[in-house]
Amino acid sequence: MRHGAWVPGHALASAAAQRWPASTVLALGCVFLAIFLVGALLIGMIRPDDRARKLAARIERYGASHAWLAAEREGKVVGYAYATPFNERPAYRWSTSVSVYIAEEAHGEGVGRALYGALFDRLRERGFRMACAGITLPNEASVGLHESLGFELVGVNREIGWKEGAWRDVGWYQLELSPAPAGTPPEPRPSV
Ligand SMILES: CC(C)(COP(=O)(O)OP(=O)(O)OC[C@H]1O[C@@H](n2cnc3c(N)ncnc32)[C@H](O)[C@@H]1OP(=O)(O)O)[C@@H](O)C(=O)NCCC(=O)NCCS
Repeated sequence: MRHGAWVPGHALASAAAQRWPASTVLALGCVFLAIFLVGALLIGMIRPDDRARKLAARIERYGASHAWLAAEREGKVVGYAYATPFNERPAYRWSTSVSVYIAEEAHGEGVGRALYGALFDRLRERGFRMACAGITLPNEASVGLHESLGFELVGVNREIGWKEGAWRDVGWYQLELSPAPAGTPPEPRPSV
């Protein structure tokens, strides 16, 4: 999925050059999700086609169990980040897969770092231990972002995906969100 694929194109149209603290991004992300996406769907501002419905369902599902945030600036969405289960099998329930997408015009302004920061804070609060990211290679910006936040490369799947006319490697990156607790870990806590 390319960045911006899940919101109307105009919503990603412009972005002012400004860095936000993680707390602001988190607050605006919540406001966006509550008001813009659901509200716009309900009052028909955006066409409630299958894709939008599926997206809304995924946001609701994974926003509740994990985390899903968007960054909005002057009424425009400039990026989003989310976490989903790493693997549906029970042993992996403390681990998450994370992704972040920033509108091209807002690249390099700290929005990706801020969104990920807010996402990881939320995941820690909810009791998750590991964040994992699969990056189709090459992707200098994404590797740079993940490594700058402490992710480590733990493996590479060779020629595992067909994308943009070629077989691509995917690098797997991992970040420890919280240290291992002693004994049996407490269950991750969904939103209340
Ligand atoms: C990867 C992506 C999310 C980065 O978001 P961003 O908001 O532009 O990144 P930030 O401005 O927050 O940069 C944070 C750090 O990431 C690294 N980084 C960002 N862009 C980079 C680039 N082009 N080259 C190398 N490192 C880069 C730097 O370490 C940077 O820290 P610095 O500003 O102190 O040098 C963004 O380029 C994007 O959405 N790309 C397309 C979608 C994508 O590949 N998503 C990742 C899927 S796993």
